[in-house]
Amino acid sequence: MKKLATILLVAVMLLAMVGSASAITIGASIRKYDDTFLTEMRNHMQAKADELGVEVDFTDSKADQTTQNNNIDLYLTKGYEALAVNMQERSAADVVIQKAMADDVPCVFFNTEPFAEALDLWDKVYYVGAKAEESGTMQGVAMAAYWDAHPEADKNGDGIIQYVQITGEPGHQDAELRSEYSIKYLTDNGYQVECLAQDTAMWDRVKGQDKMATFLAAHGDNIEAVFCNNDDMALGAIEALKAAGYFTEGGKYVPVMGVDATEPGKMAIKDGTMLATSLNDAKGQAYATIELCNLLANGETPTEENFSYTITDGKYIWIPYVAVNADNVDEF
Ligand code: BGC
Ligand code: CA
Repeated sequence: MKKLATILLVAVMLLAMVGSASAITIGASIRKYDDTFLTEMRNHMQAKADELGVEVDFTDSKADQTTQNNNIDLYLTKGYEALAVNMQERSAADVVIQKAMADDVPCVFFNTEPFAEALDLWDKVYYVGAKAEESGTMQGVAMAAYWDAHPEADKNGDGIIQYVQITGEPGHQDAELRSEYSIKYLTDNGYQVECLAQDTAMWDRVKGQDKMATFLAAHGDNIEAVFCNNDDMALGAIEALKAAGYFTEGGKYVPVMGVDATEPGKMAIKDGTMLATSLNDAKGQAYATIELCNLLANGETPTEENFSYTITDGKYIWIPYVAVNADNVDEF
């Protein structure tokens, strides 16, 4: 009996050792938990990790670079096998890469794109993301189609699109490029535009609502288009517009555009308050990030055979945007 118990105990201990030796942990540092899109990404990352049988330890940087650096230091101290990093500030990525390199811990960045010079510091560094220009252009395409089909959209009849723009966090490539390319598509295609107001609402719904209320107070019904760098801010803008008498039966209308196609964003497309958005593929980006971290953590180099996504220029995994509007929203 005693002998059997000893054998069993040893067996259990051995199993535990084997288990812990093979368990990979990915340290995942998120810019900000309080963000609809990043929350969707986090949930998909967890799901992919569960599927692959690896651990992910998530931390919230609370939109603070110092907090993020401390979280990453802790991951390295704990000896995690790979890092998945959503930088608060693009420009701080080189510091993270140098630390990871010193400990030989591969690093996959996502959502916030480090500068090319930083990514070039080491070969075990990658970026998973979406090309922000595409989502900007998609807003321009949607606005042009709306303008062409609706002569009444030119409220003052001057042939010029008077617009306001609500932007994401300054410095984030998605904010800068979406703002630029939405308007660039219009001007490149012969549309005349006039910016009535532009300001950041830091990707945030409540701030988006406040910003839109301010724009309405200054420009009222002269606003002919509302470009928002993401769905959350578009949803906030829609709230402010509703309070000003828009989107009621037979009431006023103005086209509002977002980016992301989050769950609440898609609802707004369906109920007709948001004209257009684009799928910022949270699931695709999350799955690519975790799959790549897992490969690197196992000491493998990603190839066409062992990795489900295409790597461009040895560093980049681009997940395309898809234009979403009332005609196709049910497919997403
Ligand atoms: C998304 C935003 C999000 C931001 C967070 C962007 O790609 O479109 O909704 O707030 O990333 O960094
Ligand atoms: Ca006009």
